Parts: sequence; C-alpha cells; structure tokens
Amino acid sequence: MTEEGALQEAAALAPSGVRMHTVRIPGTGEQFTLPDGAYLSDAAELELAGLIFGCRAGACGICTIEIVSGGHNVSRQQDGERSFVASLGYSPDSVRLACQCQLRGDIEIRQC
Ligand code: FES
Repeated sequence: MTEEGALQEAAALAPSGVRMHTVRIPGTGEQFTLPDGAYLSDAAELELAGLIFGCRAGACGICTIEIVSGGHNVSRQQDGERSFVASLGYSPDSVRLACQCQLRGDIEIRQC
C-alpha cells in the first residue's frame, strides 16, 4: 500500500462512527489521526510533537502554524485572527493560529 493509500485508510470512520482526519508534520515525519471537528490545540499529540500552545484563545500568538497543504480542511479564519496574524508579521493567507483551527479534513502543517 502506498503512503497516500495508508493515509486515506486512516481518514476512514473510527469504530465510534466519527470521521477521522490526518495531521502531518512533514518537517518531523510525524502524523496523527484526530476526529472531525477537533481543535488542534486540544490534541495532546501535537504538543508532544513540539507545537507550543499558550492562551488557547487566539490572544498570545505562540501557536502560529503554516498550513502546508489542506488549508481548506480547517475551520474558516475569522477577521480577528487574520488581523492578529498580520500584526505578527505573517501572511494570514497561509499562517493560522493552531488554537483557532478546527479540523475538517487532512492537513499538513509546520510551526512558524
Ligand atoms: S495559544 Fe495563544 S494564540 Fe493560540
């Protein structure tokens, strides 16, 4: 089975019927499977992988991530998040606050 096939299989339904999605961190080779609708900041796996969270409320900016692929697979970026990310010197078109991202499909990320 190819790596992509394995990922698609992982995105299948969990035994509970909850749709599962894959978060990959290409820089480290790590990947995790999380349930649909999960906030990235609620995933202990991401902290173990080195992502840093602070306020978890979109106010401190420590959790900035670049969404390398699958940007359409996270919740919509609100205007306040866009302006805050821009004020930090990042492009809000590719950088998100991980604590504000709700997973809707497979994504690849890297911490800024
Ligand atoms: S943890 Fe503070 S902005 Fe995300």
